[in-house]
Amino acid sequence: MKIYAAKDYSDLSRKAANLISAQIIMKPDAVLGLATGSTPVGAYKQLIAWYEEGDLDFSRIRSVNLDEYKGLSGEHDQSYRYFMNHNLFNHVNIRKEDTNVPNGLAEDAEAECVRYNGVIAAMGGIDLQLLGIGGNGHIGFNEPSSVFEKGTHVVTLTEETRQSNARFFASIDEVPTHALTMGVGNIMSARKILLLASGEAKAKAVYDSCFGSVTPNVPASVLQLHSDVVVIADEAALTLVREKTDWKDGIYEV
Ligand code: GLP
Repeated sequence: MKIYAAKDYSDLSRKAANLISAQIIMKPDAVLGLATGSTPVGAYKQLIAWYEEGDLDFSRIRSVNLDEYKGLSGEHDQSYRYFMNHNLFNHVNIRKEDTNVPNGLAEDAEAECVRYNGVIAAMGGIDLQLLGIGGNGHIGFNEPSSVFEKGTHVVTLTEETRQSNARFFASIDEVPTHALTMGVGNIMSARKILLLASGEAKAKAVYDSCFGSVTPNVPASVLQLHSDVVVIADEAALTLVREKTDWKDGIYEV
């Protein structure tokens, strides 16, 4: 695991976009595992800007998103399909039919999870998986638990996650109680992983995930077992890492 320090959110976004661009340039038909939440928005904006300047071509890129709220249609403005269309897909030349997000409205959610695992397998797996992190260490919607779930599955969202995502909804009552998410196994099968963390609210999750025990109580801690993980965190998110380690500058290898 390599940790890169970013000065602030805009530095983090540029660094992340640089790594994603490198993937797109080196493998024009790469499978990108994409994430939602506020953290990757700056990186997506930068990718759009480079696309508009003619530096990036998404025409052969395929994508698979981590998760979706159960019960929201792709037209709902808080669904992750809507988020992806509006924050990235509508602004670059990716073919919509090559983008995948779990179907939150599937009548049989369990069957949808099985289908989604099949989609990832049929694409030959994920070349680069982008991740944000929840304040409790969740990745995708893999919440703290007593086990690591392998494949795509239906989860009950924790109260903490619903509260922190409530800012995007009119009220907490409108935040869905369940979601469909890739499992830790799907994420760990990606060939490369890029985790982004911004803000002091993520400082404990970043420290525990990178330096703590590997435990499903802190889902992102499993990334310590992957051989190609880059964490880009801004100084606010690194507060605890700075306090508890002797890391001053450069790239920190855990
Ligand atoms: C949601 C998403 C996660 C994301 C997390 C953090 O719960 N399912 O994929 O990492 O929020 O979001 P933010 O980046 O807004 O802090």
